[in-house]
Amino acid sequence: MSASGARVRAHAPGRVNLIGDHTDYMGGLVLPMAVQMGTTIDAVRGGARIELRSDRVDGVVGLDLPVQDPTTVQPAWGRYVAGVAVELAAADDIEAPLGLVGTVSSDLPLGSGLSSSASLEVAAALALGDTGSPLEVARRCQRAEQAATGVPCGIMDQLASAAGVEGSALLIDCATERITPVPVPADAAIWVLHSGQERELVGSAYADRRAECERAAAIVGPLPSAPLARIEQLDDPTVRARARHVRTECDRVRAFADALHRADLRTAGELMVASHMSLRDDFEVSTSRLDELVEDLCGRPGVYGARLTGAGFGGCVVALAEPGVELDGWRVHASAGATVTVQ
Ligand code: GLA
Repeated sequence: MSASGARVRAHAPGRVNLIGDHTDYMGGLVLPMAVQMGTTIDAVRGGARIELRSDRVDGVVGLDLPVQDPTTVQPAWGRYVAGVAVELAAADDIEAPLGLVGTVSSDLPLGSGLSSSASLEVAAALALGDTGSPLEVARRCQRAEQAATGVPCGIMDQLASAAGVEGSALLIDCATERITPVPVPADAAIWVLHSGQERELVGSAYADRRAECERAAAIVGPLPSAPLARIEQLDDPTVRARARHVRTECDRVRAFADALHRADLRTAGELMVASHMSLRDDFEVSTSRLDELVEDLCGRPGVYGARLTGAGFGGCVVALAEPGVELDGWRVHASAGATVTVQ
């Protein structure tokens, strides 16, 4: 129940994807984990206006309800909140959102592949009164992100944030949206390092990649299960390479989850490096800075493997290391999913 005047605190984590990139929107496998950094909204519900201030970005987001068009909202981070408000208003089984006045705080690096936007969406959904299951919240937030940015993203980021499990990564089959928690072994240290490159061109390049994958799937069927031999017969070399990435990446996700179950971190690290090469060569979403960083990390004692994480085109690298190793980044832990308290 969204009581007018109620104080609400919603927190939603960011995520790091251990392996399985550019597979979610093709119905493939991913293995993200929610992290201890995230977005928190502290606000009071009531009235017919959303007014949120950010502790990180200038400007106040002011939206009159019902929100009409998320795409023109200024400052631009307000588009994610606006997209969520539109989705909630359209949901049959949820009360239309009340207004919300308060603050947004975040300790996630912005625009770096750790899902700062998905965590804002999920926190906003809970603050605005989304009482659905984590999967329902994630689906609404995915649509909100698509509407706000025009990027045809998959469901991984929003689902990892909404459904995170303390101590576990999440093996998600994006075709069935089934989640299997995979415990992270106690002696696995997971680090996230920023390449120093803000992500660029993500919008159009991401949509292009997805369209190329869809061209392949129209010929060979769903890419996660298409026979590799069939993919190798595709005429267009670009389409073939994109499809090969999706197909082989799904196998790597499965093998990585098995390796984590056995606490075989050496194999897990090798799979991360193979994933990076596939994202670099077949999917072409890496940059020379990301490649250098991965190579440098893999040469260090105690590092099992590293790869770019998220959409690519800059942003962050994730590394798997022995516990004693210190790297120049954030050591992340698998955290619980989003929470909300209403008083
Ligand atoms: C972005 C999208 C996700 C996913 C990744 C790449 O983070 O939001 O849905 O496609 O890129 O794996």
